[in-house]
Amino acid sequence: MKSIVIYYSWTGNTKQIAEAIHAGMRETFNDCEIIRLEEVDAERLGDYDLIGLGSFVQSFQEPPVVTDFIHAMPDLAGRYGFIFCTHGTCAGRYISNMVTGLRGKGLTVTGWNDWYGSGFIPLMPKPYYTDGHPDVVDLKEAEEFGREIVRRSQRIAKGETELIPELPDKEAYDRLYGIPIDLATVDLTAEMMKLKPVYHAEKCLYPRCKICVDHCPTHSIDLSKSPPISYETCGPCLVWFCEQLCPTGAMEVNWDLADHIMEQMTSLFARIAEPMEKYKELRRFRSLITREEGTDTPLYKKKNHPKLVNRDGVMKETKWMKETK
Ligand SMILES: Cc1cc2nc3c(=O)[nH]c(=O)nc-3n(C[C@H](O)[C@H](O)[C@H](O)COP(=O)(O)O)c2cc1C
Repeated sequence: MKSIVIYYSWTGNTKQIAEAIHAGMRETFNDCEIIRLEEVDAERLGDYDLIGLGSFVQSFQEPPVVTDFIHAMPDLAGRYGFIFCTHGTCAGRYISNMVTGLRGKGLTVTGWNDWYGSGFIPLMPKPYYTDGHPDVVDLKEAEEFGREIVRRSQRIAKGETELIPELPDKEAYDRLYGIPIDLATVDLTAEMMKLKPVYHAEKCLYPRCKICVDHCPTHSIDLSKSPPISYETCGPCLVWFCEQLCPTGAMEVNWDLADHIMEQMTSLFARIAEPMEKYKELRRFRSLITREEGTDTPLYKKKNHPKLVNRDGVMKETKWMKETK
């Protein structure tokens, strides 16, 4: 079976899980590729027998780029697929949307799995409940998932169709993946829209550095232009990577406006944390932070730069930040 693992990852959690799944699959299939979603030519997917697709969870579903990717896939009838994701609180509608999406393209979906991942959103309690994930245990589990998905897909391909998994019914689904609170009451988007970066040319290291350009999720920055930020497309990405990764503070967000948003965020996340504890066993949640660490050092409060560094596609908090909080 010619196979491929495709992943979409902003801060590296899904990348690490994808690599572990790939390592597990490679034990059986030498002919197994791994690739970032941004680099895939969807039209060529017909060359593969088994296609794994995974990303992070955004707003309790798949990121829009992933939805668009599935829409762009050709008809893949007769082939096999699987789904994986990483998330903070929970996968929400991700699994059902993705399974339905792949089935809509004719793929037989042979399995799925989800993992917790550290959070790097400035307006979030820090350390966040899921910080430290994926850890060694998660990565081992992902490797085993890779082995298992290969075994199962091969058996299904040979006719054991009873092994094709069904999505859990609504109640069971919600216990496993569902959103633990009613988010309809919380809409902070308008407030967050005000938190746009402002550019300070005198601090910028361009052309030596264009880390903000490379990490802007909405491709709204072009440092060769004046002004360099296109505010029409610079939306509430919620990560403000331009500001967090800038080594000099050339991208500045007015975080004074953030304090009252954070108050609402804190109570929101406290309500989210409660059911996380409740479904701990079911959702395989292992806390890797201690209560003593608190959750009161959100990234936006850090003063020095850079706040995050990207090491081979995996985001890390800069070390000194912990010392200067
Ligand atoms: C913009 C944004 C929205 C997010 N929304 C959710 C969400 O709705 N539910 C959730 O559990 N995690 C959410 N997360 C957390 C990520 O899914 C989690 O940190 C994930 O592991 C990041 O994966 P990555 O490192 O591959 O980018 C969100 C993260 C970002 C950046």
